[in-house]
Amino acid sequence: MFEIMEKRTIGPGIILMKVKAPLIAGKAMPGQFIMLRVSEEGERIPLTVADYDRGEGSITIIFQEVGYTTKELARLSPGDFIRDFAGPLGMPSRLDGQGRVLCVGGGVGIAPLFPQIKYLYNQGTDVDVIIGARSSDYLILVDEIRDSSSNIYLATDDGSLGHKGFVTDIVKRLLEDDNRYDLVIAVGPLVMMRAVSSMTKEYNIPTTVSMNPIMVDGTGMCGGCRVTVGGKVYYACVDGPDFDGHLVDFDEAIRRQQMYREEEKEAEHNCRILSKI
Ligand code: NAD
Ligand code: FES
Repeated sequence: MFEIMEKRTIGPGIILMKVKAPLIAGKAMPGQFIMLRVSEEGERIPLTVADYDRGEGSITIIFQEVGYTTKELARLSPGDFIRDFAGPLGMPSRLDGQGRVLCVGGGVGIAPLFPQIKYLYNQGTDVDVIIGARSSDYLILVDEIRDSSSNIYLATDDGSLGHKGFVTDIVKRLLEDDNRYDLVIAVGPLVMMRAVSSMTKEYNIPTTVSMNPIMVDGTGMCGGCRVTVGGKVYYACVDGPDFDGHLVDFDEAIRRQQMYREEEKEAEHNCRILSKI
């Protein structure tokens, strides 16, 4: 059982929770994720680690209330317990030895990007960050990222804060002005990561994207999270979630993501695979 230490609403339906999990906090690295089950009968869902504090023994998760489990999780309060909280899972992001990095985050994808930004900045890396969301209310972690980056650029689809338009408009401008980045990291909607990767390919800048497919077991056994990268099949839960954006088959990933869209929208849909029946 894992105690909720803190809970804050940071955007419309977007919740930040700090969970007491000292063993996971002791090992977690940027890019990794946890799988949780709210209750004994609940489904397992993956959530990327949005922050970790080894001293406090806490893991921060950020999620949007979109389906059965995230709504169930959102009903819990500080002092309540989460039934299962397993991790850290997945491969840590490869961030060492970079001189100058451009990080691009879209919507809720800003949350998993934050520990990477912080890690790079604390290592003395020059980090430029572009974050965007549909409107200012949805633009999360702005102050935290401002404190951990060399330059921050904001975009909103409706122009309520920063540039009016997509993050990719700013990527295009920055790359045209000065493309001397050693690495570009993009986390957000698949269409955004595909657009960023195609821009950086023109400049031959290595680009990492974070894949977020449906996961069931999170241990490489069910095959649910498969992605095709450079013509080979990988499992995001054990081989990723980070992959080379220039090699990911985004069209296939988008088709696979759309397969369960209706079920995901159903408030009552609770995947029972692997739960006790
Ligand atoms: P959203 O649809 O509101 O988009 C957020 C921003 O992404 C937009 O404001 C825009 O700047 C950019 N964007 C969107 N469509 C674009 C396009 N066609 N071209 C260029 N830029 C575009 O985002 P949301 O509703 O918050 O969804 C977040 C997405 O992030 C989800 O699809 C989720 O699966 C993904 N996600 C990924 C991870 C991960 O680890 N990879 C983690 C959490 C969320
Ligand atoms: Fe089952 Fe990755 S979630 S193989």
